[in-house]
Amino acid sequence: MNEIDVTTLPINKQFSRRLIRPDSWIINCYDPSLAAPHPHIIIGDEKALLIDPTYTRLPLREYLEQYVTDKEIMVACTHDHHDHTNAAWQFDDCTIFMSEFAWNTIQGRRELSDEEGRWNAGQPHGTFVPTILKPGDTIDLGNRIVEVLPYEGCHSPGSLIYLDHKYGLLFTGDELECGQILVGGKRAGNSCVETLRDNVVRILEGWGDQIDMVCPPHNGSPFDKHFLDYLVENCERIMDGVEGDPNVGSMSYLFNPFEDRSPEKIKETLEDPDTFRSEWKGTSIVYNRKRIFRKDLNQE
Ligand SMILES: [Fe+2]
Repeated sequence: MNEIDVTTLPINKQFSRRLIRPDSWIINCYDPSLAAPHPHIIIGDEKALLIDPTYTRLPLREYLEQYVTDKEIMVACTHDHHDHTNAAWQFDDCTIFMSEFAWNTIQGRRELSDEEGRWNAGQPHGTFVPTILKPGDTIDLGNRIVEVLPYEGCHSPGSLIYLDHKYGLLFTGDELECGQILVGGKRAGNSCVETLRDNVVRILEGWGDQIDMVCPPHNGSPFDKHFLDYLVENCERIMDGVEGDPNVGSMSYLFNPFEDRSPEKIKETLEDPDTFRSEWKGTSIVYNRKRIFRKDLNQE
């Protein structure tokens, strides 16, 4: 296969965009890895909001300003993970929103050398100081309000879930998606399947009639909100004792030719005797069978 240095191509060949609702785009940043997340950008009468700048090393800001919007761009991070936040440095002088947990993690990452922080090697850390958001806070884009919904992070403790009230788009980061939801892993804090179920039930009861589509960065966006009902069913099957598949890999997780985790890490994850994948009606939850209920968490 011939390798192309994509950075030598015109900027509109380094990225593409797909409209999912009026003034609402998903951006494809060229990346050979199936695991690469995709930024979304939504545009109001006065400002635009980029949800998850991702870890692209390509000039995302330049592309957005040339091809997507002439409005002032603000940035909202769903969670701290490097693949969602590393390119935030490109927006150093913009308003950047995130949770306090995410900010603490990012400050810690700024202390690391290139070798220690290999995910960001060769890239600036940025000097921005974010605006901290918590559930209930809103962002006004001009005739378009975005609200942070209550959510107890299962994938990352500091996750923020954003609801665009104008078009009913729910931006969920890695907490809610079709390809796989990674719950209760070593990086996922004090979480379990029961908490995931309660999160989704709370969203459906409080905002279900306002949500039209769910927009996660990995594994396909957007998708129909009925996925959330199936996700609750999947959680309850696990809680009822229906065991998933011990072979947890997927095309975008540990099974692709551009996988950037070490062979040792892949082996450790695939051979973990307690990690399972439960698939149900198109939803997929990767969970630890020792961390299904909240009561399980107190026993460790
Ligand atoms: Fe993540």
